Amino acid sequence: MDTSTLLFAAVSTILLVVALKKQLLPGLTLTQPNKERARLPPGITGLPLPGDILRLISAYRLPNPDLFLYKHMARHGTMFTAHLFGQRAVFSADPSFNRLVLNGDGRIVDSSYPSSVATLLGAKSVLVTHGPAHKGLHSLALTRLGYAALPPLVAHIDRIVLATMGKWEPGGAAMRLLDEARKIAMNLNIKHLLSIEPGPWSESLRCEFNTINDGFISIPFPFAFLLPFTNYGKALKARKKVALALQEVIRKRTDEKATDGGADRGKEENKGKKDMVDLLLEADGGSFSMEQMVDFCVNLLAAGYDTTSLTMTLAAKFLTETPAALAQLREEHDGIRKSKGENQSLEWSDYQSMAFTQCVINETLRICNIVNGVLRRANTNIHFKDYIIPKGYKIIALLGAVHLNNEHYENAQSFHPWRWQRNNNKVQDVPASNLFSPFGGGPRQCPGNELARVVISVFLYHLVTRFSWDEAEEDKVVFFPTTRILKGYPINLRLRSDSIS
Ligand code: HEM
Repeated sequence: MDTSTLLFAAVSTILLVVALKKQLLPGLTLTQPNKERARLPPGITGLPLPGDILRLISAYRLPNPDLFLYKHMARHGTMFTAHLFGQRAVFSADPSFNRLVLNGDGRIVDSSYPSSVATLLGAKSVLVTHGPAHKGLHSLALTRLGYAALPPLVAHIDRIVLATMGKWEPGGAAMRLLDEARKIAMNLNIKHLLSIEPGPWSESLRCEFNTINDGFISIPFPFAFLLPFTNYGKALKARKKVALALQEVIRKRTDEKATDGGADRGKEENKGKKDMVDLLLEADGGSFSMEQMVDFCVNLLAAGYDTTSLTMTLAAKFLTETPAALAQLREEHDGIRKSKGENQSLEWSDYQSMAFTQCVINETLRICNIVNGVLRRANTNIHFKDYIIPKGYKIIALLGAVHLNNEHYENAQSFHPWRWQRNNNKVQDVPASNLFSPFGGGPRQCPGNELARVVISVFLYHLVTRFSWDEAEEDKVVFFPTTRILKGYPINLRLRSDSIS
């Protein structure tokens, strides 16, 4: 037996014991208000079997999400009941139910992520906070990330993207595009949220976030802090370092504010403008604790990192594999570049004219499902169709499974950005919003969604107008437990010979 088999056997035993405890101990069974009988969607509802658990765990290792989810869907339909880590949970790829769940956040459901996620993001982070506290944090995030805050940012984004691309060596050794996209995403977030310019500090913080990210998809052994050699143990250590670094930034800013009101902070372009730290220090009349501020920043920095960089990388991969789409995107961006003076940075109006770029981004998000699903817990008995899902049940809204359903999208598995074009009778119309929710929806809809779109658009603009490339090695996208590209997409990069200056 190799180590990983042993590991799986050990984990499955732990999970089975937890599951049996939950099923058999009366104190741990779920209560049902009004004694209403549960009417669950079809699927496994008895005791969890070790085979089920092993199948779920082994799905983590395979490059095919069909294995677990789609097999259940084929057998039971778009809603089914299955065991998730020792507890019965309702999985849904039904667009109407998913919409009900997304919109009902804070009322019929609350977010319910594993405690390992809460530990890494922070107990007071936006994603795991509920009720009025969540509402306050969400709108605070929107103040800095939302649509209204974005137009003046395009020039900043442009500068940060170009600063990273300026260090690229076309014609040199193969380059992992994901690494470069990650630098851009983290540098931009750090600049935008903390007003710190890219440099050694941001780079070391970024490396800690890489370790934290590995922790999200690792096994959170109990007492992991005593096991610093495990991925989860390493992630806990990295989280501590990030928290200390952010505390230092916040303390320094507090001191600056106390001495000169913070008026001279940062570069000329930042004067008089509030970044996320300023907003946090002023929030609720300045009553936020250090822990609240740190957890907020960790959540935003983590949430905007791999999501945005992976979308950039996968968009480039799909464009490489779909030359007609790459040609059309180039035409759009070359047109914008031609209209600009030398060294003139992109502006909001340029971004708004990137119509086909938005089709490419939508299609990348639809196919890749960077966030496959969102996790909730029922606050009350939920009635939907003939089902009654009891209070306390976990619900997993499979946003990605809706995007890949042929009933909703013609040839759902193929990359076809033209399907998003409006007023073109030949292509499928833009689907209703409950069929397309890469950024979730309702009160927890991703507050960074517009920022992510702008960053990805600016990245694609510079990539296709300045460079050409081909794949240096074949690479594979895997979807379980999260979407990843195994080798980080190594490419051979060249300067475009026909680039418009
Ligand atoms: C392509 C990029 C991105 C994707 C696909 C994405 C996707 C999502 C999704 C699906 C959710 C909902 C989670 C849930 O309902 O439980 C979410 C929440 C969130 N996202 Fe994003 N996101 C992206 C970029 C960003 C960026 C750039 C930021 C910030 C800089 C960000 C910050 C957040 C935060 C703070 C939440 C929690 C919101 C809440 O619980 O109220 N995201 N994101």
